[in-house]
Amino acid sequence: MTAADLFARTDRLDSDTLDALVARFEARGRHPAFANMLNEYLDAMQIAPAANVLDIGCGTGLVARVIARHSGFAGSVAGIDLSPHLVAAATRLADEEGVGARVTFQRGDVRQLPFADASFDAVVAHTLMSHVPGPLAVLQEAARVLRPGATLAVFDGDYASLTFDQPDEAQAQADDAVLVRAVVANPRLMGQMPRLLRAAGLELQASFSHVLAEVGTANFWLSAIETFRRVLPQGGAMSAAHADAWAARLRAASDDGVFFGRCNYHAFLARKPA
Ligand SMILES: C[S@@+](CC[C@H](N)C(=O)[O-])C[C@H]1O[C@@H](n2cnc3c(N)ncnc32)[C@H](O)[C@@H]1O
Repeated sequence: MTAADLFARTDRLDSDTLDALVARFEARGRHPAFANMLNEYLDAMQIAPAANVLDIGCGTGLVARVIARHSGFAGSVAGIDLSPHLVAAATRLADEEGVGARVTFQRGDVRQLPFADASFDAVVAHTLMSHVPGPLAVLQEAARVLRPGATLAVFDGDYASLTFDQPDEAQAQADDAVLVRAVVANPRLMGQMPRLLRAAGLELQASFSHVLAEVGTANFWLSAIETFRRVLPQGGAMSAAHADAWAARLRAASDDGVFFGRCNYHAFLARKPA
């Protein structure tokens, strides 16, 4: 069975699947390893207190909320996402966290941003780019809406490196391949990012690289695996029985202290020439 990237068609998923994604995005955002990678590149961006920031592929608005509640921030953050369900969740969560006055969310496609040229002081794409067919068009749109001298941040997994060990090596390879095909459109994109940023007219300023590996027992990856177990059958990538058996093997490996799961993550900061 094959399936196009789930995250590239969030406007067509059922609400149970979308609720599972909301829970996953929020849990992932709270995980210390994920939060640290986000804070590292946001700190390096040195977003000005009065900045007008855009969060593209905002999902539940996790990044927008982190920026909005940063001490001293008095600017505004706009978020845009393909899914009305996720936009509604982002609006609700921002209100619940008391930052609703500084953030706005709207439905839209990041390949055709509904914003004027040079209207943002910073643009952030947090785990978006691997999911969009035609990523260069997204970078060009981000470059268009950035004011000269402003910075784009692109953060995502290098899904070519995603792997979960299983006792049967052929099964592990096959399941890794099905998973990657189901959850990302561009598994090799992070390695291509330096030349794509240049092709979009942006200058690479800095990059940050991390290995998110869990060895022995799993925590971050177990929560991801549980979400995938639920959503992969709905996307048509795996039968429910196959997904259940796959997740059970990985859970058993963690219970037994022999788990191995890994994905590399990269953040790139690139500047629009002044
Ligand atoms: C993996 S999620 C990341 C969400 C959020 N940035 C985070 O890190 O929690 C990818 C998001 O990109 C959105 N997305 C994918 N393709 C898109 C497109 N063409 N235009 C707008 N949003 C898109 C999806 O709806 C989804 O919310």
